[in-house]
Amino acid sequence: MTQTPFIIAVDGPAGVGKGTLAKALASHYNLALLETGLLYRALAFKVILNNVDAQNEDEVASLAHTMTASDTVNSILRQDHVANMASKIAPYPKVRAALLDFQRTFARTPPPGANGTILDGRDVGTCVLPDAPFKFFLDADVEIRAKRRYEELLLRGIDAIYANVLEDMRVRDRQDREREISPLKAASDAVLIDTSHLSIGDVFEKACAHIDRAPDPKG
Ligand code: C5P
Repeated sequence: MTQTPFIIAVDGPAGVGKGTLAKALASHYNLALLETGLLYRALAFKVILNNVDAQNEDEVASLAHTMTASDTVNSILRQDHVANMASKIAPYPKVRAALLDFQRTFARTPPPGANGTILDGRDVGTCVLPDAPFKFFLDADVEIRAKRRYEELLLRGIDAIYANVLEDMRVRDRQDREREISPLKAASDAVLIDTSHLSIGDVFEKACAHIDRAPDPKG
């Protein structure tokens, strides 16, 4: 008997809480998690480190072919200058194609012991895994997202200026939503959750309620 794989796609803009939701769902349902943004961030970091011309799609794409899972394990990837570079190189079709296989292979081959996989990003539900049985698209006011990010930076002891965080987020939103290939948008069959005025717990409960209502979440 073929089983439907238990795969969850979570998409949304920066600072919306998709990473937090994905981690909570991964632990609740025992799923392997891939933060797809980390792949773009890891590539961006390689571009910066190797002084590669970010305007040169071919050079960036050839670096993308050298990526391994271990490249995504580095705390520096969380820094905003890396995210901004990620957003600059993410529109290149050759870069996206190079990273697509990695994401699909991860989604379809959960490690032994896991019930399935969960991926969060920008285009997981629309492009990477259009057949995923569960899709969520999170959104929230840009000011609220910027405020959350600003407070998170302060908590981590990083000196930040709210106006700069907001401006960075607006630029990244524009780049991610307006690019031609795989723009940030909700899949037509995604469950939409506006997190502007919801707590982390509220968002988690909404997502679980949807998953648990399905006939058999583990396929
Ligand atoms: O999710 P995160 O903020 O780590 O993503 C960093 C950047 O990587 C995004 O702003 C976006 O440009 C790019 N990205 C993407 N597609 C994904 C995940 C991230 O284009 N699936």
